[in-house]
Amino acid sequence: MTFCEYRPGLEGIPATQSSISFVDGQNGILEYRGITIEDLAQHSTFLETSYLLIWGGLPTEEELAEFEHEIRYHRRLKYRIRDMMKCFPESGHPMDALQACAAALGLFYSRRALDNPIYIRDAVVRLLAKIPTIVAAFQLMRKGNDPIQPRDDLDYAANFLYMLTEREPDPLAARIFDICLLLHAEHTINASTFSAMVTASTLTDPYGVIASAVGTLAGPLHGGANEEVIMMLEEIGSVDNVEPYLESCLQRKSKIMGFGHRVYKVKDPRAIILQNLAEQLFEKFGRDEYYDIALALEKAVSDRLGHKGIYPNVDFFSGLVYRKLGIPTDLFTPVFAIARTAGWLAHWKEQLGENRIFRPTQIYTGARNAPYVSLEKRHSAHDESLLNFVTS
Ligand code: CMC
Repeated sequence: MTFCEYRPGLEGIPATQSSISFVDGQNGILEYRGITIEDLAQHSTFLETSYLLIWGGLPTEEELAEFEHEIRYHRRLKYRIRDMMKCFPESGHPMDALQACAAALGLFYSRRALDNPIYIRDAVVRLLAKIPTIVAAFQLMRKGNDPIQPRDDLDYAANFLYMLTEREPDPLAARIFDICLLLHAEHTINASTFSAMVTASTLTDPYGVIASAVGTLAGPLHGGANEEVIMMLEEIGSVDNVEPYLESCLQRKSKIMGFGHRVYKVKDPRAIILQNLAEQLFEKFGRDEYYDIALALEKAVSDRLGHKGIYPNVDFFSGLVYRKLGIPTDLFTPVFAIARTAGWLAHWKEQLGENRIFRPTQIYTGARNAPYVSLEKRHSAHDESLLNFVTS
């Protein structure tokens, strides 16, 4: 088979066959294993949904209880991981800390038995259990405090908020955070999932797979956008400044964070649910000062860019929810990673089921048969490109 058309960003090119999730970008539909995201947000929990994504069907009561029990049991970190984290600079980004720790887990659980279902199950449990503990531990350690131990009597979401804030969360806050995790758990072949699949296809260990996905999620065009949305709302500062801000972005051709999606051409269904969750939180704990700016920006962007299918994506309202839950801005993307670990693991497992190493081709655009110029006769191509950069 020959396929020669080059599509930047592989837009529209199927990279795999998958039965994990389905997106209809024109009609704003997202389903996990055939179940709509709205149904799951209403009735399920993050761990039940993770089970559904990874093992392909909803668990029985007994299966779910066992899965939850295993995850509770594996939440703690080895003291040597915590010692390693003590050496991290407190000014480092928590996504870098998370990526390093995810990879380091592979040092401690190094047996690689990808054809053994028990190994697969253990890796799934360990990663889902420990990633939140790593994120919370880094947050406390960078403030100069010891991390606090997970609490076995708390559910997954409540325990994370407890480890982060050192306070047992309000039940509504914990339930809303759990739904946020569920909403971010999976989203077909996005950049980080693709990265996980490429890494998985080499048959490396699952900790390396998750570390590579975390590195990919960190960028501002992907998971990093939720953090940038809050910085943008901060910069806009008032409802009156929304129009001038938008105008200046459009003139500079710069992207408005939290808007637009490669697949959705309508408002992201997750953004609709997240906005509703934000309003529930505001009702109980007070309105966020940035919410009116966000609403005005949504209206202005829809008026100006709606014809291109540019509407709020998942990252637009998630930051407002996380702020209300007391999560610091630079932890928004690590929180996304906690959730997306479920989807990455589901794709890792699916990839192993029918593996072929990823090895795409390229269209070569460089020189051929170029002469080797001796050192004393060379002009610096680097200096010229630097000069162009400085003067442009
Ligand atoms: N603000 C202004 N214009 C936009 C935006 C935006 N946020 N997004 C797309 N456009 C315009 C873009 O300028 C282009 O216009 P034209 O055709 O006139 O040149 C058109 O829409 C298509 O844009 P694109 O960049 O070719 O679209 P893409 O599919 O490559 O990019 C995207 C998708 C998500 C990277 C992009 O919309 C973007 O950069 N958004 C801002 C960052 C963001 O919120 N990222 C989170 C994505 S959702 C969660 C996730 O995947 O992590």
